[in-house]
Amino acid sequence: MVRSTKYVCQQCDYETSGWLGRCPSCQSWGSLVETVVSEIKNSKIKGKSGKFEIVELAKVKAEGLQRISTGIGELDNILGGGLVLGQTVLLAGEPGIGKSTLLSQVTEKIYPEKIKKTVYYVSGEESANQVKLRAKRLGFSGVGVFVIEETDVDGIIEILKLEAASHLSHLTSLVIIDSIQTLTTSNLTGSAGSIGQVRETANRVVSFCKRENIPVFLVGHVTKEGAIAGPRVLEHMVDTVVWFEGDRSQSLRILRTIKNRFGPTDEVGIFNMGEKGLSTVDNPNLIFTSGIKNVPGQVATVLLEGTRPIVTEIQALVVPTKFPYPKRVVQGVDLRRIEILLAVLTRRAGLPIGGFDVLVNVAGGISIHETGADLAIALSIASAWSDKPVAPTLAAYGEVGLLGEIRAVPQEARRTKEARRLGFRNVITRTSARTIGEVIKKYLR
Ligand code: TYD
Ligand code: MG
Repeated sequence: MVRSTKYVCQQCDYETSGWLGRCPSCQSWGSLVETVVSEIKNSKIKGKSGKFEIVELAKVKAEGLQRISTGIGELDNILGGGLVLGQTVLLAGEPGIGKSTLLSQVTEKIYPEKIKKTVYYVSGEESANQVKLRAKRLGFSGVGVFVIEETDVDGIIEILKLEAASHLSHLTSLVIIDSIQTLTTSNLTGSAGSIGQVRETANRVVSFCKRENIPVFLVGHVTKEGAIAGPRVLEHMVDTVVWFEGDRSQSLRILRTIKNRFGPTDEVGIFNMGEKGLSTVDNPNLIFTSGIKNVPGQVATVLLEGTRPIVTEIQALVVPTKFPYPKRVVQGVDLRRIEILLAVLTRRAGLPIGGFDVLVNVAGGISIHETGADLAIALSIASAWSDKPVAPTLAAYGEVGLLGEIRAVPQEARRTKEARRLGFRNVITRTSARTIGEVIKKYLR
């Protein structure tokens, strides 16, 4: 096999042999990415008796998936019951969110002393010493965990192959690549972390692990602006994509599956980052509320995180603006959604909010990805504007449409049940009132 490289435009697929700043075809800047071209010489396609076979679907024996527990219940849950042999998982998140910590904890938990298991921790970011210091902080010795301080992907695969030949047991091993942005291959000239390198090195690790049936975690950093040379280019290559979210200044962390070939998607695991690493949060609702009551602008809502209803507090502040354009400052909610709700409040509920700065925050650092919180957000803004609190036993959920109407959201029975369980006797939904205007009249005292 002869390897050569070329530059491929990410916008229009134009191919060229040399690097150019701008694509000669579509004229976009910086879109040419160095890519390895493999030319197979003397390839022989073998028929029925050879290497490749065509099988009729009816004759395929469907075997159940064998799962390995990671030892962390919340992680097993979001993976669909544990890791599958040969599963490739991309763990993506901002730097410092806790990816290495989570995986260090996995290396410990997946290695009960009695069963011989080996974990290979490829650390391109930290030295073995730093990995050990973290392990010490987390309180485990590191028996059965082998640190590979290497960034050349072909070297890493060579090491793993030798290990596989000696004592790496396919049934129980795990490979961790921390992080994919540090790996390189000498077949490409681009620096570590460039799109070409990330894609090619990930491809080689994924093919190796699939062939050997070893589960692998690939760590991928994302930047606040949204992954440029990062996880996005890898999403289609792996079986499972898990995002690690949270506010670094707070202790809450949310693990979310956004793609899963072996289980559910949109499932979440909730963790708390403490002195001794990540711990599972059994009753997350307590974290998402401020603990104080009767303040204008404060309204509880029930979000659906995966299949789990979570009671969260929306906080709003409305102050006269000092600027020609009023400010909208939001945390944990989509700014465009807030703009829509403000327009609805102005036109459909008669709230003259145009001359006011509006600030909206979600307590506890959770991010809202659904429209179920609309009603509580709109009500909290109205409450802050009129300086009237809602009853402390009130919670609200529902989508608010452009006509001001309150619309259905998924899993209403479960949301209501959870709110009641936590003592919110008055749960406002589309059955309580038809429009946001009615809700404001009825529940702002
Ligand atoms: P880390 O896992 O290194 O983040 P990532 O790999 O995603 O870049 O974790 C970074 C932060 O977590 C760091 O600020 C220290 C903190 N931390 C704790 O609070 N408790 C702990 O037990 C550990 C190991 C880290
Ligand atoms: Mg790290």
